[in-house]
Amino acid sequence: MVNVEQFIKQGIGEIRQNVKDKAIIALSGGVDSSVCAVLAHRAIGDRLIPIFVDTGLMRKGEVERIKKTFGYMNPRFIDASERFLNALRGVKDPEKKRKIIGETFIRVFEDAAKKENVRYLIQGTIYPDRIESEGGIKSHHNVGGLPTKMGFDAIIEPLRDLYKDEVREVAKALNLPKGICERMPFPGPGLAVRVIGEVTEEKLRVVREANAIVEEEIVEEFHPWQTFAAVLEKGTGVKGDRRIHGWIIAVRAVESRDGMTATPMMLPQDKLKRIASRIANEIPDVARIVYDITPKPPATIEFE
Ligand code: XMP
Repeated sequence: MVNVEQFIKQGIGEIRQNVKDKAIIALSGGVDSSVCAVLAHRAIGDRLIPIFVDTGLMRKGEVERIKKTFGYMNPRFIDASERFLNALRGVKDPEKKRKIIGETFIRVFEDAAKKENVRYLIQGTIYPDRIESEGGIKSHHNVGGLPTKMGFDAIIEPLRDLYKDEVREVAKALNLPKGICERMPFPGPGLAVRVIGEVTEEKLRVVREANAIVEEEIVEEFHPWQTFAAVLEKGTGVKGDRRIHGWIIAVRAVESRDGMTATPMMLPQDKLKRIASRIANEIPDVARIVYDITPKPPATIEFE
């Protein structure tokens, strides 16, 4: 990237020039789609229609956060959580889960676009998204990965040549809140890749709470590339004076430059103990907490 200010000017210019009518953008609350939405809003104002699809696979408090930061753009909120959960019922295979989530997302988004009668799509695809998808490493569900056959007149991707750290620089220059500029990457398929096997409401509830605790304890203090919790299986534990069959939670915190490789963070023992104790005490059905010390490779960052 040549220069942040110049990039912003060009990005806004590109959007203004290409969008001849209303445009739609899938706003996820991540840094990429946020930057893209702000550029687009500066370019075309209320001709921009930001759509937030609540997949039911989001982190705790996400809808409220979006409302607070992007309310001025008048985003449309679509609660599709039941649709996603129904589509995922009984599905255990990780790649199938990703495909289902990607396809459901597209269908929900398509319906919204039809309703709004828009012909232009703006998306926050960044350079590594293109590489990973083209390389076929995994079915990369991303709100920046909608297919061209959706019938838009044009798809505008202002961030297509940027790396994540460059997007963060742009976010800062656009005065986006610190929480967004420094936001960790969050996978398109959401908490579904942090639930091993079938996605159920119960597992989602547990993993959502665990993720909130892990973020609270680690993000500000240690600035990891990514940190999160995943729910694995059930195992035996003892709470009070009775044996329980409760969830096993894995905690992960990694350093990385671009997500292609990663190193586990060796967090202080006191911190790990505190996290384990908070998760065990605050989430009733958890029996065991483990800390993942595997680098990538061989493990991926996410659990599925
Ligand atoms: P893995 O788990 O493959 O993840 O080591 C590398 C980085 O990519 C994120 N990730 C995704 N991001 N759609 C996304 O937008 C996806 O389907 C997806 N899967 C993984 C992951 O969080 C990590 O930062």
